[in-house]
Amino acid sequence: MSTNEILVNKHRKPSKGKETMARAHKLAVIGVGKLGEALISGLLKKEYLSTGAICGTVGHESSISRVAERMGIDVTLDNKEAARNSDVIILAVKPQNMDRVLREIADELEPDQLLISVAASVTTTFVEERVERNIPVVRAMPNTPSVINAGMTGMCAGLYATQSHCEQAEAIFKCVGETVFVDESLMDGVTALSASGPAYLYVVIESLAEAGVKLGISRETSTLLASQTMLGAARMVLESKAHPALLKDMVTTPAGCTIDGLLELEEGKLRVTLIKAVVKAAERARELVNTQNSAPQPKVILRK
Ligand SMILES: NC(=O)c1ccc[n+]([C@@H]2O[C@H](COP(=O)([O-])OP(=O)(O)OC[C@H]3O[C@@H](n4cnc5c(N)ncnc54)[C@H](OP(=O)(O)O)[C@@H]3O)[C@@H](O)[C@H]2O)c1
Repeated sequence: MSTNEILVNKHRKPSKGKETMARAHKLAVIGVGKLGEALISGLLKKEYLSTGAICGTVGHESSISRVAERMGIDVTLDNKEAARNSDVIILAVKPQNMDRVLREIADELEPDQLLISVAASVTTTFVEERVERNIPVVRAMPNTPSVINAGMTGMCAGLYATQSHCEQAEAIFKCVGETVFVDESLMDGVTALSASGPAYLYVVIESLAEAGVKLGISRETSTLLASQTMLGAARMVLESKAHPALLKDMVTTPAGCTIDGLLELEEGKLRVTLIKAVVKAAERARELVNTQNSAPQPKVILRK
């Protein structure tokens, strides 16, 4: 198969976000920090909701004006009021604040609302147990490139979330990138792969750029060469749907220079190192889940 043949083979899922999102008249983001801001920006940019349909909450009085000015939305410290007046509630506080916030808003929630949690390692059961009613819950794990609408969000449904709730949640996260639904047992893997993943890939970019510097290329140019190359390679995989090994073979001319570089990567155990890194991060995510679900003081462990 030629590179052109591979590139023609595009199967992009059509976005059905706008219609689905139209069902959510009011959205509350509890905890408008880095991630909350990224989500709200994405929703506003895509015109899924207007500023008047979104309200946010923060933990400190001093954050109110900062967030209100940046986002142009109503911002309050009152989580109860925000939850009471919204159709969809996104919980974007730190995992260690989830227990308190959930107990705080529990009495305001009704089963016709949708609760979306983005807190790392917090299970849908953890959320459902604290709100104590049959509230639909979707758990989502986005990543930092959501800030530039290039995010990747893994999601799973709680006990009471229907197909329609999942579609509603999907429409929200489609505003900041791609989405995928997985079984909740795989969410630690998602956390380790795509949520932690940017960190691993920054190390790869940094290392490739260092190589350019070693070869006499300026750091600025080296970083551009490395990062645009990573972006291009990722787009080749996504748009062609070809196996990465096939795309790799296309770059690797017999007796050329790429095969020498690849041999060095094999000797340096790059593959096994990356695999082990993701597996290790997933183990850590699992530890956090267990700690949070069983211990009354998750703060202590999460700060380690
Ligand atoms: N950042 C990411 O890339 C990413 C990716 C995946 C998942 N997540 C998850 O997203 C959540 C937020 O992460 P983040 O990076 O956005 O953190 P962050 O920037 O620290 O934001 C947390 C926000 O929560 C607010 N807050 C604290 N206590 C609150 C309370 N009792 N009621 C209402 N709001 C409160 C904070 O307000 P003040 O500043 O006023 O205290 C702040 O605006 C975490 O659970 C994290 O696991 C983040």
